[in-house]
Amino acid sequence: MCLIVNYQLLLVKARAVDMRLARKSTSAKLWIADLDECHGCATPCRDPMRKSYIYGTKFQEVLIIQNNTRLGYIMGRVDNKVAIITGAASGLGLASAKRLAQEGASVIMADIDVARGEIEAANIDGAAFVKLDVTSESAWEKLVDDVVSDYGSLDILLNCAGVAELATIEQTSEALWRKVNAVGTDGTFFGCKHALRVMKAQGRGSIINMCSTASIQGGPAIFAYATSKSAIRGMTKSVACLSAQAGYGVRCNSIHPGNMSTPMLDTMYNIVLEHDPVTAAQMKKSWVGDPVDVANMVLFLSSDESVSVNGAEMVIDNTVTITEGMVPKI
Ligand SMILES: NC(=O)c1ccc[n+]([C@@H]2O[C@H](COP(=O)([O-])OP(=O)(O)OC[C@H]3O[C@@H](n4cnc5c(N)ncnc54)[C@H](O)[C@@H]3O)[C@@H](O)[C@H]2O)c1
Repeated sequence: MCLIVNYQLLLVKARAVDMRLARKSTSAKLWIADLDECHGCATPCRDPMRKSYIYGTKFQEVLIIQNNTRLGYIMGRVDNKVAIITGAASGLGLASAKRLAQEGASVIMADIDVARGEIEAANIDGAAFVKLDVTSESAWEKLVDDVVSDYGSLDILLNCAGVAELATIEQTSEALWRKVNAVGTDGTFFGCKHALRVMKAQGRGSIINMCSTASIQGGPAIFAYATSKSAIRGMTKSVACLSAQAGYGVRCNSIHPGNMSTPMLDTMYNIVLEHDPVTAAQMKKSWVGDPVDVANMVLFLSSDESVSVNGAEMVIDNTVTITEGMVPKI
């Protein structure tokens, strides 16, 4: 009965994309994806949308074939893992939620933006939305305990919620300082603390903290933001060292993206454009990454492929930090 339901569900999905992408094999659980058939191309298909569609069929194994040769079976890279992602209603958190769900994880999408979060989660198989204000420790405690109770474990935490403000130290009010640090520094601290509590008891888990190249370079007009990201960088390494030395089995790593194409970057760009059109024009010419670049790093750090990666800082900036970089001024 269950297999029939899955079969029908996948047929519906296949129709929505391309009926030739996957076809039923004699085994009810096995789907075949033929790299030569998908678009009728002469060359092997490299279309990432098609690939993620195939990988996203999380009900069964997928056998990849090409030229009638078996290339191998594909299982989800984070099958059966349970993930909390904060800031999941938008940008990098949303891209990461999609990617982990595609690879078999159950994803709890946590965000303060309920309207957007619920709409996004409804479109992702394997995801559910939960309202969370990361600045509240009691809310964190409840969420982590609820997830373990409802899903049986917490294997992955991505602390991705963040707010950015453009201001030098001279322009930074106490209110701005506290706002940026409440979401970034405090929110990540509470998340790490409560995830570590349950992951330590499980003897396994992966915590990933979204930092920024701002924590490596600083910047004249991102004083509070760079400070918060630097705190998160130190927090990450301290959690990793504790876990490694105490034998908790929990890994903690940070990701340091350069400019990525998200609503946050759009907002920053518009402010820079208003105050400094020359720098805005430079920003337009400068490298900007795709959120899926970050989501793929999140996937790697979430999966058991990165089992020996602990306390590391993963920079995704196409050399911006080691070349001239971008320093927008206001
Ligand atoms: N976009 C970039 O260029 C870039 C570069 C480096 C680092 N980052 C970092 O990546 C993370 C995600 O950024 P983004 O570009 O996707 O931004 P975004 O603005 O698109 O998304 C941020 C999300 O955080 C949520 N959020 C804000 N305050 C919250 C709170 N108190 N509790 C729960 N959720 C809250 C927002 O509702 C939003 O959905 C941030 O930590 C940011 O600092 C972004």
